[in-house]
Amino acid sequence: MLYTTAHVVTDRPHRYIKQLVSHMGRKVPTELDADRGSIRFSIGSCLLVASTGHFDMIVKAGTADAVAAVEDTITGHLLRFATKDTLTVDWLPLVRPAATEDDAALLALDRAAWTAGSGLPSTRVEERTAYFNERRKPETHLVAALGGQVIGTVSVHRTNPFPEGAHVFGLWNLLVAGQARRMGVASALLSAAERRAGSQGARKIGLRVLATNTGAIRLYEQHGYAVEGRYVDEFLIDDAYVDDISMGKRLTPTSQGSV
Ligand SMILES: CC(C)(COP(=O)(O)OP(=O)(O)OC[C@H]1O[C@@H](n2cnc3c(N)ncnc32)[C@H](O)[C@@H]1OP(=O)(O)O)[C@@H](O)C(=O)NCCC(=O)NCCS
Repeated sequence: MLYTTAHVVTDRPHRYIKQLVSHMGRKVPTELDADRGSIRFSIGSCLLVASTGHFDMIVKAGTADAVAAVEDTITGHLLRFATKDTLTVDWLPLVRPAATEDDAALLALDRAAWTAGSGLPSTRVEERTAYFNERRKPETHLVAALGGQVIGTVSVHRTNPFPEGAHVFGLWNLLVAGQARRMGVASALLSAAERRAGSQGARKIGLRVLATNTGAIRLYEQHGYAVEGRYVDEFLIDDAYVDDISMGKRLTPTSQGSV
């Protein structure tokens, strides 16, 4: 899947989302609640999320042509509805390669995003002044950004030291900011990580996830990852032993390509 985003500045975000979703709802399935709307076309979908002074949109589709067609439909309608405002709608990839300049944003995200159910508490009390270090390098990371603000990241790189295992890559540090969850951002990061790993020769991706992290396990299962093993009582977290689960996915040729 490919994901793009547009950040539209307006003092009437709810009005535009409601108008667009209601209009499209005459032709295709839509959903609308307090701050979000979604439109499901046959070739892809668009999620719209209102915030103070702007709204963000995320388009998802299987091919670049389908993404462009959904973007054009959404942009065309929005510009037609904007009789009293001048809206600017610029589409960008939701996920891009990380850069050293993302360090401060990633450090803040990393400090805020983990809980005892999803990560090891000891790593959160470490005195760190930078996100990137010897183990976490910018060149292995992808970031997701909405309106220029980094709201998610993942690292993907080769893990097996032997030539016989050169086709195996590992996924690390997948995280999404609290306010940007359940919008498909982790799904976009996973898709992009698989494309990047595939383009670097990966045929399989593995990861580890705490057994208590049921939301992440569900996400991985939805993306085709299966449980391959279980490290029983691997961690002692808040006075309880927690299993660490190993999951993996074989990459198909369609998951390959660059980010
Ligand atoms: C786990 C995490 C990365 C998910 O990010 P996200 O952007 O909210 O995930 P998505 O929106 O792409 O979710 C896709 C699907 O995964 C499943 N899912 C994701 N989070 C879920 C949760 N908390 N509970 C149940 N299902 C969840 C749902 O099926 C969801 O689809 P839906 O929203 O249509 O129901 C995010 O909650 C996070 O950063 N958590 C803290 C760090 C972490 O646990 N990282 C993984 C370490 S192994």
